[in-house]
Amino acid sequence: MKQYSFSLANEDATVAFGNKLAKVVKPPLTIFLEGDLGAGKTTFSRGLIQALGHPGAVKSPTYTLVEPYEINELKVFHFDLYRLMDPEELEFMGIRDYFSDDSLCIVEWPEHGQGLLPQADIHIEIQYVDSGREVVMEAGTPIGEALLSQLQ
Ligand SMILES: Nc1ncnc2c1ncn2[C@@H]1O[C@H](COP(=O)(O)OP(=O)(O)O)[C@@H](O)[C@H]1O
Ligand SMILES: [Mg+2]
Repeated sequence: MKQYSFSLANEDATVAFGNKLAKVVKPPLTIFLEGDLGAGKTTFSRGLIQALGHPGAVKSPTYTLVEPYEINELKVFHFDLYRLMDPEELEFMGIRDYFSDDSLCIVEWPEHGQGLLPQADIHIEIQYVDSGREVVMEAGTPIGEALLSQLQ
């Protein structure tokens, strides 16, 4: 599948990238966000969730694992699995129910939920480069591929 690589010079650029993706996302959709602590996964998520129409803050659901949003008709679930100790915890929270036909799921640290998460439609990896960031984005499914092809 086609890979998109680009740099994000500062925090504003990361937020703008989230804003841009908001223009093409529609459910059902699963986005995996990879990259070290502080890479900008939550910053990107904030840009995406706020551009979808959420007026308030977007905080990392580090302790609760998931933060739900209801934005107009759209259900958005923002996961942060950094503190997930045992993937079985995902079973207990009924993880499968979140990934439904009418939801957008954004997952930070998806590697911690390996084997229990559905396939991602879009993979985004953010890496530190000098004082900015470098992004590699790739579709994981035909749905993701179709959405990414709408980006300019
Ligand atoms: N493109 C960028 N270049 C430099 N700093 C950035 C960039 N994007 C975000 N940041 C900064 O890096 C940090 C990212 O934090 P956060 O989004 O919480 O990361 P993560 O969720 O990946 O742990 C914030 O302090 C933010 O201001
Ligand atoms: Mg985060």
